[in-house]
Amino acid sequence: MPQLTLNQLCKTYGKTRVVDKLDLSLAQGELVSLLGPSGCGKTTTLRMIAGFIDPTGGTVEVDGKVLSSPQGSVPPERRGMSMIFQSYAIWPNMTVAENVGFGLTVRKVPAAELKRRVTEILDVVRLGALRDRYPAELSGGQQQRVALARSIVVRPDVLLLDEPLSNLDANLREEMRGEIRRLHDEFKITTVYVTHDQSEAMAISDRIAVMNSGRIEQVDSPWALYNQPRTPFVAQFIGRTNLLSGTRAHNGLMFDGFQLPASLLDDSDDATYSNDHNITVSVRPQDMQLCGQPPTNEDTGIEVSVTGRTYLGDCWDYTVMPAGGSGQAIKVNSNPAVVLEVGHRVWLVFNSRKLVAL
Ligand SMILES: Nc1ncnc2c1ncn2[C@@H]1O[C@H](COP(=O)(O)OP(=O)(O)OP(=O)(O)O)[C@@H](O)[C@H]1O
Ligand SMILES: [Mg+2]
Repeated sequence: MPQLTLNQLCKTYGKTRVVDKLDLSLAQGELVSLLGPSGCGKTTTLRMIAGFIDPTGGTVEVDGKVLSSPQGSVPPERRGMSMIFQSYAIWPNMTVAENVGFGLTVRKVPAAELKRRVTEILDVVRLGALRDRYPAELSGGQQQRVALARSIVVRPDVLLLDEPLSNLDANLREEMRGEIRRLHDEFKITTVYVTHDQSEAMAISDRIAVMNSGRIEQVDSPWALYNQPRTPFVAQFIGRTNLLSGTRAHNGLMFDGFQLPASLLDDSDDATYSNDHNITVSVRPQDMQLCGQPPTNEDTGIEVSVTGRTYLGDCWDYTVMPAGGSGQAIKVNSNPAVVLEVGHRVWLVFNSRKLVAL
């Protein structure tokens, strides 16, 4: 049985529905991210799960028990959940150890057990040596770990994290996301992790729910979201991609000014496709090559001219324009050794099964 279930969850402010019929189930011990642009409803969803906001429609259930509904909600402190807020706050007048132990004091855990559990969790987040320091004497990443330790030490059934790394620099973010995943593997707490950073979500999550304007567009593993996006929004939000509009006809895929074999589609074996319908295809910049000669299988290449280029260190980022039509610009990443000038006429070669129909 899934442990945490959102059922047609809605939140309306005035006339705007900021969370729109959300359905999501988390299994016991699963870590799922809510990923989406600013304002798409992530924090509102998390606050409804925690019980700080009542839904205007739908329910939040844990182990089959309704905790939130428009008819009434169990208060946050009786949900067995811990939440770290977007602007995480630890108490400046308490030491690291006092901050971490606070939730246990409130729960009237006996002093000896409190001390043992605080020491244990401080070891896990590698703050044992700093236990008597005050927050003002800690770096941002150390404060972040205090907030994490404080939320985990009470052994919540569900952990809710709202952009917990947003105040950190790039290096520390990367280190901390490894830390969060490690803590999750150790304690197996069912976790909802909110972020607008796709690489963070990819690194941390078992599954990611991609949100757009209050709705979930797709829930999948990081691998499936990247390789099998189902909507243009997901394809563009998870990594960079080119979206090509065309039609699927009996003799292949027809685009503006060029044509490609249908065998390039990742689902080309799928017989359910009817011919002559409009499609949008996603193809990643690194899934094509630029060559001086036509490919052996000529069908899989088209002639293009280079219209722009940027050197990114680990690759060249080229913009090319199909020679055969007014067409649309296509972004291609090439290894740094392939150096082409703007104005060169070359071949753009597509790879088998690297085109994804959305
Ligand atoms: N109390 C409120 N009254 C009216 N509108 C609100 C309220 N709280 C949030 N909103 C609106 O709801 C939408 C979703 O807000 P929310 O905070 O959930 O976004 P978010 O996805 O967490 O964004 P961010 O990444 O910027 O934190 C926004 O357009 C916001 O302006
Ligand atoms: Mg938010």
